[in-house]
Amino acid sequence: MQVITSILMACAVGAVSASPLSLGTPEIDLIGGSRAKPDARGAALPVSALNADPKTITPNLKNIKAQLPLPARTVYQFPEEHSWVENLFVRDNGDILMTMMWPKPSLYLLKNPSSNEGGEPTLIHTFDDAQGLLGITETAPDTYALVSSKFSGMAAVVANSSAIWEISIQDVANPKVRKVTDLPEGGFLNGVTKLHSAACRNVAPEERKSILVSDSFNGCVYCVNTVTGEYKVAVKVPEMDPVAGAALPFGVNGIKIMGHYLYWANSDHLTMYRVSMDMKTGAMREGATVETLITLKDTAFLDEFDIDEDGTIWGVTNADNKLIAMRPMAPGGASYETVVGSATEMTLAGDTSARFGKGAGNRRTLYITTGGAGVVPVNGTITEAAKLVAVDTRGYLGTL
Ligand SMILES: *[C@@H]1O[C@H](CO)[C@@H](O)[C@H](O)[C@H]1NC(C)=O
Ligand SMILES: *[C@@H]1O[C@H](CO)[C@@H](O)[C@H](O)[C@H]1NC(C)=O
Repeated sequence: MQVITSILMACAVGAVSASPLSLGTPEIDLIGGSRAKPDARGAALPVSALNADPKTITPNLKNIKAQLPLPARTVYQFPEEHSWVENLFVRDNGDILMTMMWPKPSLYLLKNPSSNEGGEPTLIHTFDDAQGLLGITETAPDTYALVSSKFSGMAAVVANSSAIWEISIQDVANPKVRKVTDLPEGGFLNGVTKLHSAACRNVAPEERKSILVSDSFNGCVYCVNTVTGEYKVAVKVPEMDPVAGAALPFGVNGIKIMGHYLYWANSDHLTMYRVSMDMKTGAMREGATVETLITLKDTAFLDEFDIDEDGTIWGVTNADNKLIAMRPMAPGGASYETVVGSATEMTLAGDTSARFGKGAGNRRTLYITTGGAGVVPVNGTITEAAKLVAVDTRGYLGTL
């Protein structure tokens, strides 16, 4: 928690400088018996790029081995055989909102996901004039902003069909829905994050309702003011571009603001990046340069991710059904490993998004949505219905 706190404080005071972060000693056995292979090391992060106090990291991580794969449990599977859930948001009370991308633009609420009772999600709302929903975030208590688009098939977006919506669910049975704006320039609008963390007190409350939205085709992030509907390109850098001619041409995908940094996954580059943001303007801080955090090999795709309080980035790979734990700041260089799933398994078939749970006993549970491998079938032919999976990350590095 202290790490998070110090990051947020850096935001509140607008600090740019950072102190080195070390995530333990070089003796740590990262991966349950077998050390990360040399070829599994990405670009090292410059020490100056790190932003937490090393004293806040638990020193006693030696000898703690995670049993892999980490335990995974299907919380709920949708009834529609061909279905794709694209994203989720964990509410402060621990309940989970899920956005369906196929076959319907529907928002679902699953209560108490940590119980084993297998409750059904409640359909909150099916949006007009759309085929599917994508990224979602909270802009005010019980109020969420999300992206919709039209699709001609699973994940096949229709040009100029995207919009941003706001939905308020103070009364779950009577949600208030408002279109914030159409966003016709959007190529493939995808991930969503709130621009301001709650700690940015120097920003007026109304301005705090701005969101960032990634565009995977156009290689940029928009800043959308959800109060006025105004939007602009906030960040457009080559590190957000897709690779021309790639089988799935996707650049920037999952995005997340942490402290004053924008973190993003580039699906085609198989790389995590970050850049320092100016919270007032919602654009890159003047003179800031993009930092490469880590690059993956032997993986088909990199989709959404979450970051835990130790700085480990948990990314899902969609096209080859994996959850990968990435440690950009590991001693001896950035390292990563697959902790659940593989190209030939259904456990996380077509995993689309990952978010940590909230509430007691839930903070180390990573909730993952899937699209059932609907676009890249397992072993060429096997697909299934979309589902929500809970991965218990407590064993990993003993960081509970
Ligand atoms: C989509 O929108 C862009 C920007 O608004 C425009 O230049 C383009 O012609 C539109 N394409 C189609 C197919 O409508
Ligand atoms: C995919 O093929 C591999 C290799 O034949 C096999 O081990 C695996 O069980 C298959 N996966 C599924 C989901 O059937």
